[in-house]
Amino acid sequence: MADTLPPAAVDTEFYPPADTFFRAHGATALTFDDVTLATLYSDVLPRDAQLHTTLAEGLSLNIPVISADMDTVTEARMAIAMALSGGLGLIHYNLAEKQQLAEVSRVKNHVHGLIQDPIQVGPDQFIGDVLELIERKRFSFSTFPVVDSTGKLIGLLPGHVVKPRYAKRKVAESLQPRSQVYTVNVKELAADPIARADRFFTDHAGIHKLLVVDDEDRLQGLFTLSDIERITAEKGAWLKPARDPEFRLVCGAAVSPHRKADGSLDGERIRNHVGAMVDRGLDVVAVSTAHGHSAGVGEAVRLIRAAFPRLPIIAGNVTSASGVEFLADAGADVVKIGQGPGSICTTRVVAGVGIPQLTALYVASQAAKAKGVTLIADGGITKSGDLVKALTLAQAVICGGMFAGCPEAPGQIMEINGKLYKQYRGMGSLAAMKAGSAARYGHVASDTHRKAAAEGVEALKEVSGSVDAVLAQLVGGIQSGMGYLGARDLPALRSKARYIRVSPAGLREASPHDVVEIKAGSQRTE
Ligand code: XMP
Repeated sequence: MADTLPPAAVDTEFYPPADTFFRAHGATALTFDDVTLATLYSDVLPRDAQLHTTLAEGLSLNIPVISADMDTVTEARMAIAMALSGGLGLIHYNLAEKQQLAEVSRVKNHVHGLIQDPIQVGPDQFIGDVLELIERKRFSFSTFPVVDSTGKLIGLLPGHVVKPRYAKRKVAESLQPRSQVYTVNVKELAADPIARADRFFTDHAGIHKLLVVDDEDRLQGLFTLSDIERITAEKGAWLKPARDPEFRLVCGAAVSPHRKADGSLDGERIRNHVGAMVDRGLDVVAVSTAHGHSAGVGEAVRLIRAAFPRLPIIAGNVTSASGVEFLADAGADVVKIGQGPGSICTTRVVAGVGIPQLTALYVASQAAKAKGVTLIADGGITKSGDLVKALTLAQAVICGGMFAGCPEAPGQIMEINGKLYKQYRGMGSLAAMKAGSAARYGHVASDTHRKAAAEGVEALKEVSGSVDAVLAQLVGGIQSGMGYLGARDLPALRSKARYIRVSPAGLREASPHDVVEIKAGSQRTE
């Protein structure tokens, strides 16, 4: 009889683990809002929950969040911001290959705290020119390195001479000469640039600028005391950058399975391009398509695996156990799950195909366990609670829409009726396919003006805070969820999760209701 069951058995009956729960709902595909997680005994404070995740050998992140390889989401600036907060950015491939390489280089060469292109002035300029430059560009600083026409450092123009009373003086007459300027060779920065600069400023009281030069004394960068102080103050911060063994930020990039005119895979082009990115320090390549369980994607993954045996490969997208097995057998380490959950996706409307995300993740997880690969839940995340639910079945999550409104996403801000927006478009939208992503959806770029089968929309996102602010909300939510489940780390979250279906009334109950909200929460369920 039910009333004689011990409490733990009652809980298991109503809040079963994934295997029982998803199998019991076998004929119904479920997504985030269909389900809620049950609380469990906890001795874990949210702030102590660990978010480290290992996706493949040589690919570990400090938070399980990845920005989508979309042309309105991830280029170098977004990838740098993601890695600085412990996550990963996947540079999209709607770019000329040379340009994608440059974006990867920008991320891998980024030194936090080092201004890599400091504003410089020439010796023949007048102080008046410099004042005009400051005014025009609205610079908040007035000290500038002085370089000759070959980029060689010849001095530093100190802020106290950049005054209207000296406007007619030449920079050459006002500068602090090279012999009095503190510099460090770029080679000395390798292991920990911040520590090196921090030590310098401690040892040189009153000096606020440290210039970086190469062996030929050409200017390579600039550290300022205020930047270094801000960064060292943040050192205790909970979001630690994700770095490679050489202390560079981690970076991923997507590639598409290029075909030649005769329809066969362009193996040489793919190998050369991936090879060039690997030479620049790429940490992971993503073979990113709408239908990963397909001959062309399998062939591309096999080709990359054979050419780069140690490079972590993400491949997708699939929503079936056989799809995961297929990509794992081809050589993928990580499989992307999601067909049609994305906020700008119309695959399910257009093609009538796709699986609501939680069921897709559960089904995929069965093959992932068997094949020893990891999963990324890709698309459909609109709030941190969705992330927690996704992370009960996957090792990381990809978000597009959550980051598309950030200043770090590519694209201009536009004002409409007093509100600020940025463009956000599906990679299967006509405009994005024309810009290069047609192959991802099995089309030929030149076809797209005829083809009515776009699988994504062009949209706008309201401008949001910066990536670290958005991530702070998401990560706080994940840690909250882990606290409720007594999960100290992500593997514990996956093994402990208990699920139950939510009725429409239950979903309504889950959001603020029957009140007049005077301050909107930062995340909503609708
Ligand atoms: P969110 O919900 O985070 O989704 O905005 C981002 C993910 O959506 C996928 N994606 C598309 N799917 N048509 C689709 O069916 C598209 O045009 C499209 N563009 C992106 C992709 O997996 C991305 O990470």
